[in-house]
Parts: sequence; C-alpha cells; structure tokens
Amino acid sequence: MLIVNAVVSGLSLAPSDLVLDLACGNGALSSYLFDKCAGLVGIDISPYLIEIAQKNFARSPNYRFCAEDAVSYLVRAGNASIFTKGLIYGAFQYFARDDGVAMLKALKERFSGVQKVFIGNIPNRRRADRFFGELNPTAAELNDHEARMGVWYLPEEFEALAREAGWHASCSYMPAEFDASKYRFDVTLGRPGS
Ligand SMILES: C[S@@+](CC[C@H](N)C(=O)[O-])C[C@H]1O[C@@H](n2cnc3c(N)ncnc32)[C@H](O)[C@@H]1O
Repeated sequence: MLIVNAVVSGLSLAPSDLVLDLACGNGALSSYLFDKCAGLVGIDISPYLIEIAQKNFARSPNYRFCAEDAVSYLVRAGNASIFTKGLIYGAFQYFARDDGVAMLKALKERFSGVQKVFIGNIPNRRRADRFFGELNPTAAELNDHEARMGVWYLPEEFEALAREAGWHASCSYMPAEFDASKYRFDVTLGRPGS
C-alpha cells in the first residue's frame, strides 16, 4: 500500500485518467490502480507475466495488458494521445541508458496527453554502499542494465536526463518503513510550466 499511495499521489491520479503502465510485470501493482482511474494499459516484454496479468487482473475493455517491448510500443503506438498518466515502477533501471532516454522522449513527444509520469524504485547510486556493503561494485557493474539491480542513478543525474528529454523532474523518497527507501528513490515527471 505504501507503493500504491506513492504512485497515486505522485501521479495525482484522478478517476478520469487513462494510465500507461510500462514494464508492468504480472499486473498485480497495476490492478491496485484500477478503481482509481478510468482505464489502464499494461505493457511488459515477458509473455509469461502478461499471461498471468491477463488471467488474473485484466478487465476488458478498459483495463488490459499487452506483451511487447516498452521502447517499441512507445515509438509505434497508434493510440498514443489517449493516455493521461504514465507509470514505470521498479523497471526503468533494466533499460539501457539510451533506451531510457528514448522512452522519456517518446513519452514527451508522442504521448502528448500524458501530463505526469511516475518512475519508481530507482537504485540510488549515492546510496549504493547501503545495499552492497563492502562489496564495492565497479562503475561498470553499477551501470549494467542487465545486472540484478540494473543501472544505479544519482537523483540529480536522473533529473538532468529527464530535462534533456523535455520533462520537469522532481525526486522523492519513500518513508523509512519502506525497507528499500535507504537506497532507492522515485521521480515524478511533469510538463514544464504545467
Ligand atoms: C521488477 S519488475 C517490475 C514489475 C512491475 N512494474 C511492478 O512494480 O510490480 C521489472 C519488469 O520490467 C520488465 N521489462 C524489462 N525490460 C523490458 C522491456 N524492454 N520492455 C518491457 N518490459 C520490460 C520485466 O519483464 C519485468 O516484468
């Protein structure tokens, strides 16, 4: 519920919103948002996880899931303008840096109705020692999107990257009772001036 509250509040989620949930996994988190928005489309690269999402959570036609690479979906989706909010939870770090930037740019330029994007649970590079202890990972390991934890970002570095893609970004941190708050952060993107 801490996660649901952070997402709902970060996105200022409203009953009329149509949410694009990128890298939605098995749809469990998405399903907690169903009664707080008018529709949600979840995209994940794993056909297995999407099958679970479809079986357990989909409520056609408004709450549905699709197996596809998120970057491909963002650059080719024909219905881009219907969405009003975006979510990437616990997943941005598993995209190569260039793909991450491409995703933020496509969301800004093609998904013109998306007013806010919540990007959650990003590993905080400044706090990597709190996770790794004395293991001292190399810079290459901290930058590897295929590693178990994915890419570790500095909060200010993420804000700059989002600015480059045309978004205003602000970082936030989960409450202390959320265990991973010690070494993770969230980012809310908004359109400049809105
Ligand atoms: C840790 S899970 C997070 C799932 C979900 N957002 C949640 O919070 O429960 C990361 C997800 O990213 C998905 N993923 C990784 N690369 C992807 C890609 N290129 N396109 C779409 N999904 C991807 C994985 O399949 C996995 O379901």
